[in-house]
Amino acid sequence: MSNKPIGIFDSGVGGTSIFKEIHALLPNEDTIYLADSKNAPYGGKSKSEILDLSIKNTELLLEKNCKLIVVACNTATTNAIKMLRTTYKVPFIGIEPAIKPAALHTKTKAIGILATKGTLGSELFHRTTDLYSNGIKVVEQIGEGIVPLIEAGLINSNDMKLLLQTYIEPMIKANIDYLVLGCTHYPYLMPLLLELLPKHVKIIDSGLAVAKQTKAVLEHHELLNDKNTSPKHLFFSNGNINVLNAILNDEFSASSLGF
Ligand code: DGL
Repeated sequence: MSNKPIGIFDSGVGGTSIFKEIHALLPNEDTIYLADSKNAPYGGKSKSEILDLSIKNTELLLEKNCKLIVVACNTATTNAIKMLRTTYKVPFIGIEPAIKPAALHTKTKAIGILATKGTLGSELFHRTTDLYSNGIKVVEQIGEGIVPLIEAGLINSNDMKLLLQTYIEPMIKANIDYLVLGCTHYPYLMPLLLELLPKHVKIIDSGLAVAKQTKAVLEHHELLNDKNTSPKHLFFSNGNINVLNAILNDEFSASSLGF
């Protein structure tokens, strides 16, 4: 049993989609969320930049006494989690695109994957894709420009719709029946994606799997906090705090922090 908080970080506001899953599954846990919006997007950065930013976020969460760290960013996970696990003692949970369930269940033998350049170019992503995509067409699409629009608070804008249309069209042409969301910002695009995709296309992300894995690892290390009756949830942003608050539906409130 541990009263310490779970630490969560992302390049910005997107990892709140993971926070929400964790909070739903583990309602007694305290959490601390870091939105590194000042440095968003991570997707186009070099591996060494992503490593440095991941170290910076991790060290701040460790200073704040976190017992476990959730890397709520596909780009940071696929590029940096191996290094984080070998450098720090605390357990890390990462997030990767859900290629496996999509590849196992596709009937049309074609799946789409929307993710950042950093994720699609990573060794970890290639290894997972090679492992599960035998005989399946994987239509990869870099979501260039999506994260900056979300970070600017323009989730349901016309610009976003036009951008998504361009990215989705080749996937529809390739007859996909699964779309994998490989970035934690993208679950917030669900209303637009449902509008743009044919009804039979299923959209999947890894949020719930990450929450379940967080629970399993806490249990394994005997770190679950199940008696806490007034859990605290802190959110820190080094960017536009209003965008983070809007995405939190004003249910939680964020503070500005320079980091
Ligand atoms: N939420 C991050 C991810 O899951 C976005 C990456 C970015 O900042 O480009 O990959």
